[in-house]
Amino acid sequence: MTTEPKSFYLSKEIHQYLLDHGGAADPIGQRLIEETRKMGGVSMMQIAPEQGAFMQLLARLVGARKAIEVGTFTGFSALCLARGMGEGSRLICCDTSEEWTSVGQPYWKEAQVSDRIDLRIGPAIETLRAIEEDQGFDLAFVDADKSSYVAYGEELLRLIRPGGLIIVDNVLWAGAVVDHDNKEDNTQHIRAFNDWATAEARCENVMIPVGDGLTLIRVR
Ligand SMILES: C[S@@+](CC[C@H](N)C(=O)[O-])C[C@H]1O[C@@H](n2cnc3c(N)ncnc32)[C@H](O)[C@@H]1O
Repeated sequence: MTTEPKSFYLSKEIHQYLLDHGGAADPIGQRLIEETRKMGGVSMMQIAPEQGAFMQLLARLVGARKAIEVGTFTGFSALCLARGMGEGSRLICCDTSEEWTSVGQPYWKEAQVSDRIDLRIGPAIETLRAIEEDQGFDLAFVDADKSSYVAYGEELLRLIRPGGLIIVDNVLWAGAVVDHDNKEDNTQHIRAFNDWATAEARCENVMIPVGDGLTLIRVR
């Protein structure tokens, strides 16, 4: 069955309107966004401010005390998650880049969330496989190399407790997922992940058009 879409691509005006009504970053987050923007084209890897606000709220709603981020870049999504998680919580952040992650660290400090963030530099799949606390985590956010998305999903199903949440970014890949002529590697990896998550019996999923597409997975 097909129905008419009720979601739509945002105009600049509507985007600004939603930022003005609960989606904007606070001054610390805004300065981090601005510093990242000055890095040029790579800055497009950063999640949107309203996605950060949404994930901060999700972390709070899930009551996340222990979480994992796969793909930290300059640290904006980590800042949002760590804030949502509250005092005494722990967010393991996985990234391969010392250079990019070092940009975010002063902002984590200023926001007083540094003590919640455990940054681990190295290939994320190795970092995840080295974590022994099966079902010890409440939440995960995946936003790194697309070729490993299914492997991250498998490993996170071991690490996240039943009832916990896995948030996966870029699942629409700017719409390329439905362009049948698009055979690029990353498009194929994203399609493979989306099909895997849909078929995986341990996942209860919803895909929503926030940012570049987000899948929220409740682990059964
Ligand atoms: C899209 S960016 C993450 C953006 C970040 N979540 C934010 O909102 O600012 C992807 C990140 O994944 C990292 N990355 C790529 N391949 C990786 C791997 N195999 N293991 C760990 N991190 C990786 C990159 O260094 C980059 O910082």
